[in-house]
Formats: sequence, C-alpha cells, structure tokens
Amino acid sequence: MTNGDTVQDVWQARRPRPGLSGKLLALTILFVMIAEVLIYVPSIANFRVNWLNDRLASAHTAALVLDAAPSGMVPESLARQILDSIGARAVAMKMGNERHLLAASDMPPSVDRNIDMREVMWWTAIFDAFDTLFDPVEWVIRVIGPAPKGGEFLEIVMDQAPLQLAMWRFSANILLLSLIISGITATLVYFTLHYVLIRPMHRITANMVAFRKEPENPARIIASSGRNDEIGTAERELAAMQSDLASTLHNKSRLAALGLAVSKINHDLRNLLASAQLFSDRLSSLPDPRVQQFAPKLMRALERAIAFCQTTLSYGGAQEMPPARKPIPFDPLVDEVRDTLGLDAESRIGWITSIERGLIVDADYEQLLRVLLNLSRNAYQALESRAPNDRLRDQIRVTGRREGAVVVIEISDTGPGVPVKARERLFEAFQTSARTGGTGLGLAIAAELVRAHGGEIRLVDGTIGATFRFTVPDTAVKLDARRNERARA
Ligand SMILES: Nc1ncnc2c1ncn2[C@@H]1O[C@H](COP(=O)(O)OP(=O)(O)OP(=O)(O)O)[C@@H](O)[C@H]1O
Ligand SMILES: [Mg+2]
Repeated sequence: MTNGDTVQDVWQARRPRPGLSGKLLALTILFVMIAEVLIYVPSIANFRVNWLNDRLASAHTAALVLDAAPSGMVPESLARQILDSIGARAVAMKMGNERHLLAASDMPPSVDRNIDMREVMWWTAIFDAFDTLFDPVEWVIRVIGPAPKGGEFLEIVMDQAPLQLAMWRFSANILLLSLIISGITATLVYFTLHYVLIRPMHRITANMVAFRKEPENPARIIASSGRNDEIGTAERELAAMQSDLASTLHNKSRLAALGLAVSKINHDLRNLLASAQLFSDRLSSLPDPRVQQFAPKLMRALERAIAFCQTTLSYGGAQEMPPARKPIPFDPLVDEVRDTLGLDAESRIGWITSIERGLIVDADYEQLLRVLLNLSRNAYQALESRAPNDRLRDQIRVTGRREGAVVVIEISDTGPGVPVKARERLFEAFQTSARTGGTGLGLAIAAELVRAHGGEIRLVDGTIGATFRFTVPDTAVKLDARRNERARA
C-alpha cells in the first residue's frame, strides 16, 4: 500500500472485478436471450396451432373419402391405415343431429381435453401451448374443427404425446438457435466495442494512472491517437490538462526551491548590508564635500535595503506586505528614483519629468518606489543596450497626473521597445529576454504592487520605445471620508 492509496483502493484492487468488456459480453448475451424468449412465446403457440390444423386438414380429406364410400364398405385395414396416417384414434363428423363416426379403432375410455380450433384467440393459444407442454404424456385429446360438405363440425380423437414431442423438439431447436445467435452477436458486439471503445478507454485510464504517479514528468502526457470522435476529443483535452498541470507543478517546485534560496540570501544579505552600513557611517564623518554629498544617500539606500530584507524575512514567503498607504508628494519620490539609478546632469542617458504641480499619491512609499525603480531600471537597461548613449536621443521620461481619484503615472523611454515575443506574458514571473540577463521578476513585482494598491498596469501600444502606464487610485475609505467631509461642509 503506497502513501496515496486509501483502504478502499486496495480492497477494490484485490477483489477480482469483471472489466467493462466482460460486463458487455454478459449483457449482450442476456439481451439476445431475452429477445429470443420474446420471439419463442408466440412461435410455440403458433407451432401448436399449425400442427393441430395440419391434422384437421388430413382428417378433412379422410372424412371426404370415408364419407363417400357406402357405409361398411371401407375395409377395416384401410380405415386403420388412414387413421394411422393422421395419427388419430377416431375421426367423427357431426351433420345436423347425427354424428357419423367415420372410423374408430381402440377408442380410449375418456378424453382428457377438448380443443376447439374453430375460434382460437392468440392469448388462449399461448396459455394452451404451455399447458400442452406440461400435460401428462398419456393424455388423449379431442380436436374440433370445421367439417366438409355442410357438416357441423369435424372432430379427431388422438393421443397428445406426438404433439408434445414435436413441441419439445421445436423448443429445443429454438433454444439451440438462440444460443448460437446470441453467441455470434455477442462476439461481434464484443470485438467491435473492444476495438472502438474499450481499448482506447483502457489506454486513457492506464495513462491517467501512470500520469498520477508522476505528474511532473512531461513524458507521461498522453499522445493523441488522431481520432476525430469523442475519444479523440477526450484524449486531446486530457493531454492539454496534463501539460498545464505538469508545467504548473514544475513552476511550483521551482518556485518553492527559489523561495528557500531567497530566504537564505535575504538572511545573509541583511548581515552584509549591516556591515556596509557601519562603513558608510564612518565614511559620513569625513569632511570631503563630495563624500558629504553622497554619504547620506548611501546611508538611506542601505537603510532601505536592510528594512526590506527584514520585512520580507519576518513576513515570510513570496507575498508582499499589504501597502501601508499615506499621502506622498510625488516629486521627491521621483528624484530619489533618479538618484538610485545614478543619473545626474552629466549622465549619458537623459531623465525628464513631467509631473503635475504638487501631485500627491496615496500609496505605500517603499512599494511605490520599487514600482518606479523596476520600471525605470528596465528603461535604463533597454537604453544602455544601444551604447554609446547620447542624452539627447536616449531618454527616460516620467509623467504623473491626477484624474479624479486616480493618479496616472507613465514611465517611457526612447529605447528599442519591448520585444514582440516578451509582450504576451509580460507581467508574469520569470518572463525575461535572454538579452537583459535579468531574472524576469521586475515587471511581475511591479504589477503585484500596483494591484495591491487597487491599480492597473499595462504596456501602452504604439509609442516610440516602451511606455508603461499604471494607476494608483485613492483608497476607498478616503473617498468615503472625503464625501462625508463634503456632506458636513
Ligand atoms: N523598457 C523596456 N524596453 C524594452 N524591453 C523591456 C522594457 N521593460 C521590460 N522589457 C522586456 O520585458 C522583459 C521582462 O522585464 P522584467 O523587468 O520583468 O525582467 P528583467 O528585466 O529581464 O529581469 P529583472 O527585472 O528581474 O532583473 C525584459 O526581459 C525585457 O525584454
Ligand atoms: Mg527588470
């Protein structure tokens, strides 16, 4: 019993179960037999009626002959021969009030059953047939039928045994025939179903079982047999489902491994950053004016890096902290992005801002900084790829404006633009072009942070280079509060 198996699975595996083919075979035989029984019931009744009518027809002819001869002229031996050929003990004909006994030999003392063939109903014929089959063998019957030459009726007295024997033979033949027919039909149905349905279904189930054991192995994905019917559709859908699952699982385990690696890196990076902070602290005490200009910036960047490592570690996992939002003046934030990228008036890449005067964004400062940094670093890398750079041609532009309760921010560049291949799953993790040598996380992180603020991010079509536009809506609570304020005013 492996880990995934339940007690029920094991129990079912041990118990021998008829497969689908076995069940189908048994059912087909059963159904054909039922059909044969339905045919047998009226045919046995019909057989009996015909048999008796045959005897009556012979008796009819005999009656004509015997009646034509002057009475007593028919020799005893001839009469006996005629009766034997009919299989009767006596033949009688009623005419008016008289009853002519046309021939008689060893008459039985009594008759056990009277059968009137002049009016036969189909249901009585059926019941009578089954009665006849199970009557005692020695019974004698009187069969009554229409008489020739204006006679009222013709009757035959005879043993029932020959009729019973004929009926049993007929039944045995039907039984044999139905066995043969059901055998042939079942075999045909069985093989047809086996090749058309069971075998492909078996292939699918076997594949599912194998896939379940190793869902991450792409070799286990079912290969399509190219059929056009429902089985073909099932195979194609299953293959699509399996490859989705396999790649999802593959990504999941990669992410899990990566998560652990990130936690480790984060942990030790924090320690390393702390010592860097110590050195920059000492550095800031040097009187050099250039050092005095850059040291505070370096300190701030290090502090931010340490805090970031700290929160990621304590919050755990890959998920971001919910944004701690407050009103942020946008201009200084953008300046910090430029400083972090190391861009100034002498850089070979131009930095242009076009920000609405006094624009305030309602956001988490650190997170908004990370969004802007990821987007502008991508722009920077895209421009850098076209070195040597020229600050008049290679530019990064940041724009910001308020539209009602939403702040719209754009980061654009005059670079080569986002490659067509990268556009489809741009904001998904690990989608990177080989050229950048990045991890493909930058845009995924930016998108996650923007969405955490209730905003949207997208690549704007039809611009020179690449333009990313994202929105940061004011918090809903704030809107309500503002409405209340207005109402109070
Ligand atoms: N401004 C841009 N110009 C051209 N291509 C871009 C631009 N921004 C993103 N891209 C394309 O989108 C891809 C994904 O970007 P993303 O920031 O997610 O990953 P990355 O930059 O490759 O790696 P990371 O940011 O994790 O170091 C990039 O590899 C690049 O091909
Ligand atoms: Mg990037």
